[in-house]
Formats: sequence, C-alpha cells, structure tokens
Amino acid sequence: MHDTYIRGNHIYLIAILVFATVITLISTFLTYKNSKKAAEDSLNLQALGIAASLEASMSKGIAEKENIFRDIITEGRWEGIAFIALYDKNGTTILHSNENLIGRQVKDGFIKAVADTGRPVHNYTKLGTDERVFVLDFPVHIRDSERILRLALYTYPVEGIIRQARLHVFGMLFIIAVLWVVGYFFVRASKHSDELRMKMAERERFAVIGEMASVLAHEIRNPLGSIKGFAQYLKEQNTDNRSQGTDSLDIIISESKRLEALTEDLLMYAKPMEVKSDDFDVLDLINEVIKTMQNRKDVGINVAVPAGITIKSDSDKLKQIFMNILQNAVDAESKTIDIKAEFMNDKVVISISDDGYGMSHEIKENAFKPFFTTRIKGTGLGLAIVDKLTKAIGGEIELKSEPQKGTVFKIVIPNT
Ligand SMILES: Nc1ncnc2c1ncn2[C@@H]1O[C@H](COP(=O)(O)OP(=O)(O)O)[C@@H](O)[C@H]1O
Ligand SMILES: [Mg+2]
Repeated sequence: MHDTYIRGNHIYLIAILVFATVITLISTFLTYKNSKKAAEDSLNLQALGIAASLEASMSKGIAEKENIFRDIITEGRWEGIAFIALYDKNGTTILHSNENLIGRQVKDGFIKAVADTGRPVHNYTKLGTDERVFVLDFPVHIRDSERILRLALYTYPVEGIIRQARLHVFGMLFIIAVLWVVGYFFVRASKHSDELRMKMAERERFAVIGEMASVLAHEIRNPLGSIKGFAQYLKEQNTDNRSQGTDSLDIIISESKRLEALTEDLLMYAKPMEVKSDDFDVLDLINEVIKTMQNRKDVGINVAVPAGITIKSDSDKLKQIFMNILQNAVDAESKTIDIKAEFMNDKVVISISDDGYGMSHEIKENAFKPFFTTRIKGTGLGLAIVDKLTKAIGGEIELKSEPQKGTVFKIVIPNT
C-alpha cells in the first residue's frame, strides 16, 4: 500500500508537468503566430497607406515621365521602401523607381490577379540582393486608366517583433526543459528518500526482533545446557549394557546442540558490536577456522594465501565471518573450496569460492536477510551475521552465485 502511494505521488507530479508543458507549448505557439500576423498587418497597413497617398498624388496630374518614384526613394519621404513600380493590366512597366526597368514586360500572377479582381494582394519575396521584402500589388485609377501599383517594403523594421517572438519561444522551451530536468531529479530524490525510509523501518523492526531474540536466547541457554548435560550423562551410564533408549538420548543430545547453535547465532546477531583491533597472521587465522569446521571430511579446501602476512583488523569477527561462509559452502555440498587473499596498500581482498549447488537470483537477493534460509535445519542467521560483522569492521562484501555452478564471496576489509 505504501508503494502505491509513492507511485501515485510521482504520477501526479508527472501529470502536472505534462499539463504545464502542453499549455505552455500551445500558448507559445499562439503567441508566435500572433506576432507574425501583427508584423504582417503592420507592413500591410503601411504599404496600403503609402499606396493610397501615391494614387492621390499621381491622379493630380503628375507627368509620368518625371520619375516621382525615384524621387520618393532618394528623398526618403517614407522609410523602408525597396522599390515602387507601376504596371498596366498586361504587366508592362510604365514607371519604376529603377529607370532601367521601365518598359519591361512582367509575367506575374499577382498583377494578373489584381487586374482580374480589382483587389490588392500581398506576398513576400526575395530581392536580387538576397533581402526579404513585403510586396503589395494595389489597383489604382490614374486618369481613367487602370493601373497596378507595386510597392516593395523592407521587412527589417518589423523583424524585431518576430525575433522577439522567436526568443520567447526559445525561452519557453528552455523553461520547459529545465522544468523536466528538475522534475526528474525531484522524482529520483523522493524515490530515494522513500527507499531510505522503508529501509529504516525495516531496520527498526529487525532491531526489535533482535532484542526479543536475545532475551529468549539467554533464557533458553542455561536450561538447554542442563538438558544436554544430563542426556550425555545418561548415555554414558547406558553404554555398558546397551539397553534401549540410547537412540532417543542421541536425538536429545543432537537437537540440544542444534538449539545451542541457534541461541549462539541469535546472541551473536543481536549483540551490540564492539570492534577491536589486533595484529594477526591471515593464513594462521584461516587454518584455525578450517580446523573447527564441521562435516568437512568430503571437501577439499585449497588455501592460496601467502604465509607470514600480518594485518591489523578485528580477528574474532573475521574468524566468525570465515566460519559462516565456509560452513555455508560445506552445507551447499561443495567438492572443493578455494580461499585466496590479495594484499594491497590499505586493504585486503579475500575471496572464497565453492562449487556447491549455488543460488538462484531470488535466493541471492535474500541471502543476507536475517532468518532467511532454504535449509531444513538452517537458522538463516549465518549470512546476516557475516553482513553485520563485515560492516562493523568497515569492510564490504560481494556475492556472486550461479545455480549448479557455485558461489563466490569476495570480502574487502581495510587494513589499518
Ligand atoms: N555457499 C552457498 N551456496 C549455496 N547457497 C548458499 C551459500 N551460502 C548461503 N546460501 C544460501 O543462503 C541462505 C542463507 O544462508 P545463511 O544465512 O548462512 O543461513 P543458513 O545457512 O542457516 O540457511 C542459505 O539457506 C542458502 O540458501
Ligand atoms: Mg549458514
């Protein structure tokens, strides 16, 4: 339930982000379109104004051969005019601000359109100089003849508006990108903190279990010792006359031993850690552990550790770590176990590999959790203790395992 709540939270955030992105994109697109339209309207209005005023002054009877168009441009009466031309309905140039073009025939759909409909049309085109211009074709009546006035305006005065609109688009896209990046990191951070919270809750739970277990273990240990001792005593008494009941006593003794091991593991796991530091020889320590191992008759153990290398760490904890890992390797029906050690400047890397039945992915995921076991007589505390002790001495542990192939534990401990 906790999990769905977390995921729900993230989905809200992502939904808000998507919503904001869509709204911003639409509004940016509209703003951009409006700006373009405003720029065009402004050009159109200016061109229409000039055209109307030119029509009026030409109707007053200005001689067509005095090139007033050229004068208008050179005098700069209106700003931003690229050229002005007057055509008849067939596209013959009657007047042009560039005198060289007068008399030329222009084949042009716009002129024809204006001549046919009697309405002004506009479009954009590029000059020979590569400049973009706005062109208005405007129908005029000059002394009863129908003419078409063409006005080309430079677009740079309104380009500022479009540039600004474009800048606005880029700004908005940038803000959206930033929003998504921030959102991504926020989701990641909140996921991380949720995970941390869950881990802490789990740790707390285990702390309580651990405490309970330690109390129980203490209470069980003493009576258990009496039971086992008494059973052993009875068995000794009975060995001479081989009477029945010896088998039952054996069961009592072996089960008591198992319970004893469990209470020891529980106490070890629940006990607060006190880290000591002593100098010891790694090879000696490993050999000592091997000697105390149970059921190791059928297993070949190869130790490839150089002799006479002393390190500084907590030997008791390391011994327990090796013991648990090696015991697991034996329990996994291994034929051979390889122990290697590498000594570096300030750390020691020890790897223990076995060729036992290995672990599936799921078992591997859970192996270090307390009380997780796949064995009928297992306690599930062996690797939990290994994990706790390794962390206590500042080390790290890595587990590689494949079903039917074997398992490798790599332990890195600081040597200081
Ligand atoms: N060397 C190994 N090979 C295969 N499985 C292993 C090995 N070491 C640990 N495991 C798996 O991890 C589980 C937990 O191990 P451990 O914590 O020592 O508990 P236990 O030994 O009591 O089952 C084991 O039950 C076993 O399934
Ligand atoms: Mg074990």
